Amino acid sequence: MTLWQGRFADGPSEELMAYTASISFDVRLAPDDIAGSRAHVRGLGRAGILTTEEVALVITALNRAEEELADGVFKFAPEDEDVHTAVERRVTELAGAAGAKMHTGRSRNDQIATDLRLFVKRTLTDLAGGVLTLQRVLLQRAVEAEDAYLPGYTHLQRAQPVLLAHHLLAHGWALARDIDRILDAVRRADVSPLGAGALAGSSLPLDPDGVAADLGFAARFENSLDAVSDRDFVAEALFALALLGVHLSRIGEEIAIWSSDEFGFVHLDDAHATGSSMLPQKKNPDIAELARGKAGRLIGHLTGLLATLKGLPLAYNRDLQEDKEPLFDAVDQTRLGLSAVAGMLASATFDTDRMATFADTPESAAVDLAEHLVAQGMPFREAHAVVGALVRDARERHVSLAELVEAHPALGAAAVALLEPGVAVTRRTTPGGAGPAAVAQQVKRFRERLSADAARLPNPAA
Ligand code: ARG
Repeated sequence: MTLWQGRFADGPSEELMAYTASISFDVRLAPDDIAGSRAHVRGLGRAGILTTEEVALVITALNRAEEELADGVFKFAPEDEDVHTAVERRVTELAGAAGAKMHTGRSRNDQIATDLRLFVKRTLTDLAGGVLTLQRVLLQRAVEAEDAYLPGYTHLQRAQPVLLAHHLLAHGWALARDIDRILDAVRRADVSPLGAGALAGSSLPLDPDGVAADLGFAARFENSLDAVSDRDFVAEALFALALLGVHLSRIGEEIAIWSSDEFGFVHLDDAHATGSSMLPQKKNPDIAELARGKAGRLIGHLTGLLATLKGLPLAYNRDLQEDKEPLFDAVDQTRLGLSAVAGMLASATFDTDRMATFADTPESAAVDLAEHLVAQGMPFREAHAVVGALVRDARERHVSLAELVEAHPALGAAAVALLEPGVAVTRRTTPGGAGPAAVAQQVKRFRERLSADAARLPNPAA
């Protein structure tokens, strides 16, 4: 039986149900739907619309339905088009006439908006914990890396040496912004739409503030039309996850490059790499590649939802049902991605000798030579030209840069010392810079940031 049968002479067609039913995916909202119903029914009790006995009967039935769903023994009926219908049908079976009063003063429009906000609050907070776990792996690897260094790149051309710890923490700080964004999205999702009804509120003495407080929301809606049609919180959640996905993708891209024979900066643990069905010698970085690939899908979920929302007149339209699958998938993929990338990074072996070999090419210290000249009073532009000419000369005549530096009147032996292996990276001493002293400070600050962020989560992960 549908929830709207009174107005209709005929039941719904098979094709209508096949096309419009959402139970296959929105059943996932059952815990939120049932929590929302419990609060609504308690509110109806406080308003005197349901008697204390009726409230107790409905709550007992809701609890039973919740258990049946959790235990996988809930029996769905063919007409259960969505989670709301299924729960109300079962509650009415269990609680009889009292169950039939549960939907008083409520619409599936405020109900689904409530369910989805509860879902966003619980799952996104959980994902923020997953981000923190990945950050802890990066911190751990950064600390273990000690003073190891590698070439830093711009334009994917070797530029200046940087500590490996510095490079790893660059990704860590990006993830810190993700935590901020996720928690910010949760904050705006933390508004209860319950009591907005179908679109306009109710003639019954409902108490949206009391129901919001009962459900743990920070506030109730201000405008009933907005309450039932607003999906900004879903778009914001999808944006936060898309950008987090982009960050995981950039980590993935680097690991894919670094694990190539050409770079050889990292060796993946066997359990975190895959083989080829044909080429026996292959070891492939599939986690890294899927971190990259799935970012496309996460971006698609965001743009898809924005396209769904952009033309909707107030208030509820069935188009809004399209918000759920992208959100669920984004949450699931993000959870899987965070833990796969964390596992891959935690178990990878960095070839720091090989990194150093490439970072120690004399040209990596070119700017140090120029700054050596600057220290003697030469304008930087002139110093840049002098060193640039030496590099060109060395390349064209196939002579070592060190030889030319040694022979240059303004450079000489003191400048040659700057080209020694491992020297250049130690000279990046400014705050936030890539050298050991600055990075030691940074590690401290990063560790403090992780503790502060852990304290912002309701269940700080150990
Ligand atoms: N399945 C619907 C959704 O996800 C629930 C709300 C249905 N409301 C309605 N008026 N048909 O949006």
